[in-house]
Parts: sequence; structure tokens; C-alpha cells
Amino acid sequence: MDKIKIMTIFGTRPEAIKMAPLVKELESRKEIESIVCVTAQHREMLDQVLELFAITPKFDLNIMKNKQTLTGITSRVLEGLEEIFDNEKPDMILVHGDTTTTFGGALAAFYKQIKVGHVEAGLRTFDKYFPFPEEMNRKLTGSLADIHFSPTQGSKNNLLREAVAEKDIYITGNTVIDAMHVTVDEKYIFENEELNKIDYKNKKVIMVTAHRRENWGEGIENICTALNKIVDENKDVELVYLVHLNPVVKDVVYKHLSDKERVHLLTPLDTKETHNLMNKCFMVMTDSGGLQEEAPHLGKPVLVLRNVTERPEAVEAGTVKLCGTDVDVIVKEANELIRNEEAYKIMSKAINPYGDGLASKRICDAILGYFGRNNEEIEEFKVKYSK
Ligand code: UD1
Repeated sequence: MDKIKIMTIFGTRPEAIKMAPLVKELESRKEIESIVCVTAQHREMLDQVLELFAITPKFDLNIMKNKQTLTGITSRVLEGLEEIFDNEKPDMILVHGDTTTTFGGALAAFYKQIKVGHVEAGLRTFDKYFPFPEEMNRKLTGSLADIHFSPTQGSKNNLLREAVAEKDIYITGNTVIDAMHVTVDEKYIFENEELNKIDYKNKKVIMVTAHRRENWGEGIENICTALNKIVDENKDVELVYLVHLNPVVKDVVYKHLSDKERVHLLTPLDTKETHNLMNKCFMVMTDSGGLQEEAPHLGKPVLVLRNVTERPEAVEAGTVKLCGTDVDVIVKEANELIRNEEAYKIMSKAINPYGDGLASKRICDAILGYFGRNNEEIEEFKVKYSK
């Protein structure tokens, strides 16, 4: 019998982290021919992940440009994929999440009537412009998808409300938890020497990332002002900010926070370093979606520097709090966690609302089922409390 040809398409660092365990699982299945195509919407940040997980793409569109626009990314993805699809003729492509690569990949496949599988499907804020352009990227990809892999019951419910057929949705958990089973190590020694020198026991180390488009300008300025105050007002705090390579973000962060005592501005770390820093830190402050999923798995409180989230599960579980980008609110919420042991304890329980490490396996089983090569029922992901 012929193998099923599955092409995985991704382009940014977070997609790569979350697709990597799935690529490995696809490669391990004898019924599947796994092909990887990267758009390289991110270059350096993507390559770090490819290297870590030993993934060699068969195709690389290499589309990244300095200060690239959404239109530019979308059109380069569409044009690049057309020829590849004509030559390779995959049975199905897999895209992940909500980036412009995701949407471009799904649209390019639709134009060639190739089946689309959407990993991390169904998350919604219900606000067209928050996050921008991710909310619409994810929603439009959902409209084009033939099979949806929702991480949670809540994300499945969102799709059902949009009249997606229940038989086409699988609750799998998030593949990022699969990746964390590989990357997190209690005895980890950092490659970055600056991180090895930090006293994680006696200092309250806050890990920060913030670079979302809707926070560009005033949002990032406010976040940096608040971080400055938090460091000044709490002598036991040490800040590690992983600064995105995007110049729109980088320039502002360096303007506010460079050469400051107890502040470390680092370039984005590879996945292993990032996950292990999270495992050692006191708390996380971020506007990232992925960190909101990863930190609860490690029992680290998260202050989210956004007004909305498409990931309500950890907010409901009480380990993630939405702060927005108002300076005073950010400082107040951070000080509460730094100074009030009880408040910290309540938020620092380890839960797994986003996955159990088996998402990639479920996705592969479901794909085989879709092509009539697996008759077994798939046991869906259910939340269990680990502590
Ligand atoms: C993209 C995604 C966002 C995701 C984020 C994770 C879109 C529209 N946005 O946002 O959903 O959360 O990635 O990081 O798909 N750059 C480099 N080297 C790199 C990566 C980026 O120099 O390895 C610079 C380039 O100048 C580039 C800029 O960063 O123009 C912005 O990259 P882009 O992919 O447009 O947007 P992100 O803000 O990274």
C-alpha cells in the first residue's frame, strides 16, 4: 500500500517548537511519508529549533525580510508553496496555530485542493484585532481546514459553535507539552554563562518576553516602564528579558532597560534554554501565548501583558492572570506576587490544562484514521491535576 504523504509547513519559532514533536512522531510511522517545508518567516529563531530537534526540511522558502509586512509574508508564502505542491502532491498538509505562515499555507493548499490539518485549532478571543493578525489567521485557517486538532475541550467548543462537524475535531492536548517532556531537566546547565551565574534560590528571577504586534509602541513602552519600577522597588528581583529580534521591539527595550543593575537583556534563547529558564525562575511576565501554556505545566505563575487571551484555561485554573499594559496595574500585580507569599503560593500550583505529552501521538492516529488506515478510537486529552 502507498504511504500517505504528509507535508508539515511552518515558519516561526513557536510553530517550530510545537510542530517538532509531531514531525518526529510522523517520521516514526511506517504508513506515513513525512515531508517538512519551512517558510522561514523567521530565520535565526527558526534554525535554532530545527537544529535542536534535528529536523532537516526538504523545502525552505527562505522568505524573511527585514521589517517584513503581513502582505509581503502572505504573498511570498503563497507563491513559494504553489510550485512545491505541484511537484510533491502531498495528500495532506499540516499547519500550526495562528501565524501568517499558517494562514498562507492553508490557503495555498486550498487553491490546490489539498487536504488541510490544523494543529492547535479553535482558540479564539472573538476580537478581530486582538491579537492582530493572529485571531483572524487562526479563524481563517479553521475555515479552510478539513481536520482540526484542538488542544482543549474549550477550543473544540469554539469550533462547534462555528458549525464545524464534530467528527472532524479531535481534542489532543497541546504538542508543546510533548516537547517539554524532552527539554526540561532538573539538573540542566545553561549554555549561556550569564544564566548560570544567576542565584535562582535567593533571588526572585522574573522571566520576561513581550513583542506582540498589538503591543508595539505604547504597549512595549509601558511594559518597560513598569519593569524598571519593579526592579527598583524590589531589591531581591532579578529580571531576564528575552528580547525578540524584531527591531521594532528591540530598540525600545534597549532604550529603557540596557545597562541596568539586576536586568539581563538576552537574545531569544533556544527552546531548551528557554524551557529550563522557565523551570528555574520565580515567575513569568509575557504577552506570548505559548508561555501561558508552558509555565502552568511547571507550576510558575504568569502575568499576561495583554487585555485578552485566547487561552482561558489557565486563567480559570488560577495560575495565569491578565494584567494588560497599564503601568500601575502591572507594577501592582507583580509586587503582590513578589511580596505576598500566600498570593504566590495560590498561583504557583502545577496543572496541566494544556496537555499530557501525548498530543502528537493522537494527531498521527487521527490522520491515519482520516485516510482509513486506523480503525481504533482515539482517546482524547482530559485535564488532570498533577499536584
Ligand atoms: C511572528 C508571528 C506571531 C508569533 C511570533 C513569535 C505573524 C504575523 N506573527 O511575529 O504570531 O507569535 O512570530 O515570535 O505571523 N526577525 C529576525 N530574525 C528572526 C525572526 C525575526 O530578524 O529569526 C525580525 C525580522 O526583522 C522580521 C521581524 O523580526 O521582519 C518580525 O518578524 P515577523 O515574523 O514579521 O513577526 P513576529 O513579530 O516575529
